[in-house]
Amino acid sequence: MQTKLMDLEDLEEAKAALLAGELIAFPTETVYGLGADATNEQAVAKIFQTKGRPSDNPLIAHIASKNDVKRIVAELPSVATVLMDQFWPGPLTLILKHNGTLASSVTAGLETVGVRMPDHPLALELIKATERPLAAPSANRSGRPSPTTAEHVYEDLAGKVYGIIDGGPTSCGVESTVLDLTSSVPVILRPGAITKEELEQILPEVKESQDTDQLDHPKAPGMKYKHYSPSVPVWMIEETPQKSMDHLRGKYDKIGLLADHSYQEWAYENQIAYYDLGVQDSPESASQHLFAGLRALEKQGVDIILAQRYPEIRSGKAYMNRLKKATAGKII
Ligand code: TXA
Ligand code: MG
Repeated sequence: MQTKLMDLEDLEEAKAALLAGELIAFPTETVYGLGADATNEQAVAKIFQTKGRPSDNPLIAHIASKNDVKRIVAELPSVATVLMDQFWPGPLTLILKHNGTLASSVTAGLETVGVRMPDHPLALELIKATERPLAAPSANRSGRPSPTTAEHVYEDLAGKVYGIIDGGPTSCGVESTVLDLTSSVPVILRPGAITKEELEQILPEVKESQDTDQLDHPKAPGMKYKHYSPSVPVWMIEETPQKSMDHLRGKYDKIGLLADHSYQEWAYENQIAYYDLGVQDSPESASQHLFAGLRALEKQGVDIILAQRYPEIRSGKAYMNRLKKATAGKII
């Protein structure tokens, strides 16, 4: 299949392809999604095949209007309505009991479904046009860094999907926050672009699921798989890039560094391939650039990537969660 690069002009064609059971990648405010008609079992099966995604990892259903959530869920607790009013459209996925209308593979056989209304005009237009929810995981091959540009999607999925709608780089750069509303106290299953601090302004209590990596049955099944890794090893920097470099000198030909802007000159002087995570002390900026940085350094042919750590506050939680998975615990 030749993958078509699409834009706003091609929405009619993209809609027809989705309704015919094909896959269309589209931009959201977080990362690019790989969309299929969430009511079509065969179309959803293609998502799992194409990504190489384990079938026990459920997909998020994307809707274009708050009202549409009622078509999917069995019950809508008042806390969900409050959160939707505050954060939708936006990077918050709510886990709710479903009513069985979606293809069963979307929810991987669970009683619950993840629903979100993305904050991106192209995504909203596309979903509206199809008049049905779109199941969409991040549009990367399973295990790779999530795509934040149409080019990233093309690198991973060219020839395997009908089309990719190009909406430029995404603004958040990390995926949505996944919040489970089916337990008595809401639980953050995946930290993301909406922070715990923001949720706490609305909710009396919010829990965080412990690092579920070691568990066989984490509540967000996706959290147990290898994730976000480029083809070169990624190490988290323990103290400073300078100290990590001292350990590595002579061991690697080409070292890549992902760090904030203050390291640009130092990296240049030391002939290190460098990707700028943006202004100093901004976990928001670091989150926005993390996946793109991993892919960019990989493309430059580095042998190892060193990445800066951030305090686990606000967006720093999402950043560190993704980085820890990309490094699989490697610290230098
Ligand atoms: O920002 C995002 O959420 C992006 C864009 C495309 O919307 N999508 C995304 O999808 O990140 P994906 O499939 O890469 O990650 C979905 C996560 C997985 O960890 C999955 O296990 C969890 O959400 N999830 C989905 N449905 C769930 C459910 N019913 N119960 C618990 N976790 C669920
Ligand atoms: Mg993903």
